[in-house]
Amino acid sequence: MPEPSLGSAVPVTGTGPIFSLDGVTPKIAPDAFVAPSAAVIGDVEIGPETGIWFHCLVRGDMNIIRIGARTNIQDGTVIHVDSGGFATYIGDDVTVGHNAVIHACTLMNRAFVGISATVLDGAVIEEGGMLAAGGLLTPGKRIGPMELWAGAPAKLLRVMSPEERAKFDRNAVVYRDLAKRYRAGLRSLG
Ligand SMILES: CC(C)(COP(=O)(O)OP(=O)(O)OC[C@H]1O[C@@H](n2cnc3c(N)ncnc32)[C@H](O)[C@@H]1OP(=O)(O)O)[C@@H](O)C(=O)NCCC(=O)NCCS
Repeated sequence: MPEPSLGSAVPVTGTGPIFSLDGVTPKIAPDAFVAPSAAVIGDVEIGPETGIWFHCLVRGDMNIIRIGARTNIQDGTVIHVDSGGFATYIGDDVTVGHNAVIHACTLMNRAFVGISATVLDGAVIEEGGMLAAGGLLTPGKRIGPMELWAGAPAKLLRVMSPEERAKFDRNAVVYRDLAKRYRAGLRSLG
């Protein structure tokens, strides 16, 4: 297969498609990374050094979505809201793994949502709480600080030690640095 010509490389700005809706425009920190194939729509705020990765959808149409600093929303994740009262709030240093669904709920600082997990309306993950990969957190449920929940529907698996939880915190640091690298180094080859 022929190598693509590097001469055709086009710099990308580090922010993917951003759409205003009815005159409401997303507010995105200048050093956040929104991947070119992600879509951010409407009443959405995204904080500093946060990464919204490829093929994510962040749709703030029927309510608001707020995402804090140094948070990573990994590829293929859908973030939406509910018209009946539940906005979506995501704090600082949060990890949301690939292909998750975050629907009208609250993820406090350092929350961790595993790959392909789903968090439903009115549910809350408190600071340092974790939903394991593939978990389904049903409406209104609350994961306490440092608790690890797993399964569908999700149940408490154990309370993590600070040492165990610290390993998961590392993920947010890795992704913060990765977002910085992508902002600086990503080039489109057509
Ligand atoms: C929860 C997790 C940390 C594994 O925990 P663990 O306790 O080390 O796992 P173990 O293999 O020791 O299993 C302990 C028990 O939990 C169960 N379990 C482990 N992971 C599970 C999961 N994701 N869902 C449901 N049950 C799970 C195991 O079946 C086992 O049950 P048993 O005692 O009845 O046999 C892991 O599954 C996970 O979700 N990691 C997150 C990875 C991720 O999504 N990263 C984001 C992208 S970077």
